Amino acid sequence: MGTIGLSAPGERLDLLISEARLRRRVRELARRIERDYAGRSVTLLVVLKGAAIFAADLLRELALPATIEFIGASSYGAETRSSGRVALRGLGRIDLRGRDVILLEDIVDSGLTARKLMNRLRRRGPVNLALCTLLRKRVANGVPVTIAYQGFEIPDRFVVGYGMDYAERYRNLRGVYILSFGCDARPAGH
Ligand code: IMP
Ligand code: MG
Repeated sequence: MGTIGLSAPGERLDLLISEARLRRRVRELARRIERDYAGRSVTLLVVLKGAAIFAADLLRELALPATIEFIGASSYGAETRSSGRVALRGLGRIDLRGRDVILLEDIVDSGLTARKLMNRLRRRGPVNLALCTLLRKRVANGVPVTIAYQGFEIPDRFVVGYGMDYAERYRNLRGVYILSFGCDARPAGH
């Protein structure tokens, strides 16, 4: 699928990871999770909205008893840089006690969101808690987080597609794209 007609004026999309590569990698991650959790059942805890598409694909690839839960985390708004503050929603009503939990993220950038989430989740009594992210950015000033399953390491560029957005747009792209802005179409402050 092309991207013609999808990008807004002044915004440019360049393919970084194709649909076929995403599919292959999701399969590989599923096989690794099946090996690591053989004989058990897993709970995929999905961070909305960005990880929703990844989660739907991974869940269908997993040949294990699996359940799925959703939480909300936001640190971005319409900016392309992390604010460093993370708001979580929906964690209160999910019971993780005694469960093997895999937290599913779309992307670990500074690592602030993932670290905060992992710390909060650990206190809710899961038997086991692992982080799975589709993408990890190579950034200079990231905080340390242990990633058990990682799809791709990517350059420090803003990406959209396969669930990931810019100002809520582009989630419907089937691949992952680098989003760049024309010189007079940059978001405020950049
Ligand atoms: P962090 O707290 O800086 O690691 O940011 C993590 C969250 O920011 C991710 O879960 C994404 O929702 C969002 N994010 C970071 N980089 C990008 C990007 O390049 N495109 C879209 N969302 C991003
Ligand atoms: Mg996110």
